[in-house]
Amino acid sequence: MEKLIVANWKLNPITFKEAKDLFGAVKKHAKVKNTQVVICPPFVYLPLLKGLSLGSQNISSEQKGAFTGEISALQLKDLNIEYVIIGHSERRKHFSETNETVNKKIKMALEAGLKVIFCIGENEGEEKNTILQNQITKGLADVLPAQMEQVVIAYEPVWAIGTGKNCSTEETKSAVESIKNTLISLYGSQIAENTRILYGGSVNSTNSAEYLKNGEVNGLLIGGASLKPDEFIAIVKSTE
Ligand code: 13P
Repeated sequence: MEKLIVANWKLNPITFKEAKDLFGAVKKHAKVKNTQVVICPPFVYLPLLKGLSLGSQNISSEQKGAFTGEISALQLKDLNIEYVIIGHSERRKHFSETNETVNKKIKMALEAGLKVIFCIGENEGEEKNTILQNQITKGLADVLPAQMEQVVIAYEPVWAIGTGKNCSTEETKSAVESIKNTLISLYGSQIAENTRILYGGSVNSTNSAEYLKNGEVNGLLIGGASLKPDEFIAIVKSTE
């Protein structure tokens, strides 16, 4: 299965010059066989960056019309954007996104022909299996088996994001097993096996290879380290 390394730039960088420089450096050096690199910059930079697969960090739950300030899945598709991140914990926390909003956005994205990077993960102290099962079941409600080919699941334990406390490969493996069990109950074992699962949370060039080797994941979702070109390129190369 092709590996997927996704850069989530979040609300960075502040100038287009910095965005262009960062993108250019990654584009030049981050080509590795059997690995797809996807850059998810802020919306404003999406139409301006060319030469690598792109994803947005969010979409509107509405398709078109009187929704000031929103960006539609159809508009992104029209710009040849390939992926969209949906359900990131920062959106759940700071913008009150619920499993129901996440579900609406996932269906909207799939209907528009975008691929979805569906983020799930427990907060510190929460019971992982229960949370993951609930987020997956509600987030994927009414998503058809045939649409699951376009869905990638990203396990990002909230306590590991931006903290430097990355999840151990053992814990990651157990989360992957739990995710697969829920997918089996919803879609059967073949779809569960074919659905790509990513890990995200304090990934850097020192720990990245370990996840791909021993964490049973098919790729990584990178925040902070994706803003440092050398670091991000080293992570991409660690998939080899
Ligand atoms: P960090 O890599 O900065 O921990 O962020 C992970 C993340 O939230 C990616 O979506």
